[in-house]
Amino acid sequence: MRVDKLEIKIELRNVDDTKKLAVIITEYVFKGMIIGLTGDLGAGKTTFTKYLAKSLGIDDNLNSPTFNILKVYQGRIDLYHMDVYRLEDIGFDYELDDYIYGDGVSVIEWYPYIKSMLPNNILTIDFKVTGENSREVIISGKSEYEKIIKAISDRYSN
Ligand SMILES: Nc1ncnc2c1ncn2[C@@H]1O[C@H](COP(=O)(O)OP(=O)(O)O)[C@@H](O)[C@H]1O
Ligand SMILES: [Mg+2]
Repeated sequence: MRVDKLEIKIELRNVDDTKKLAVIITEYVFKGMIIGLTGDLGAGKTTFTKYLAKSLGIDDNLNSPTFNILKVYQGRIDLYHMDVYRLEDIGFDYELDDYIYGDGVSVIEWYPYIKSMLPNNILTIDFKVTGENSREVIISGKSEYEKIIKAISDRYSN
């Protein structure tokens, strides 16, 4: 059995590239999809999630859920937007379980803080600031996520 993950690194030159990444992912969205995000404050995690929400047909203005941990949005598929930064010292919040293992798509900012609650295969996106508008992202996952990663790789090799 192959256990290694597929991993790619791409350059987002501006927010339009970030939007494009979100749009491609929504083309492959499925119930129960989990996207874990990492990157320093201001790296683009929430911005990416905003574009993802828009692309899912969510009209509500998506804000950072830092003080709520979880916000639920209804769209073509429901979006559970979590920011688990505040759980750093706690490591879990079982109220999130129903969402993580629910029927929508979960986007989890700072996902490593609740790693013990997550299935071992999720799509991860790590954002790194490389300039005022540019970001380097490392995307990884396996099994059902490999198709998405390959599609992203194809569409960014321009
Ligand atoms: N290519 C890019 N992708 C994402 N955000 C960008 C990019 N270029 C500039 N930005 C800006 O960087 C900031 C990212 O903030 P935010 O998404 O809230 O970060 P985080 O959620 O990681 O703390 C926003 O002000 C956004 O407009
Ligand atoms: Mg954020």
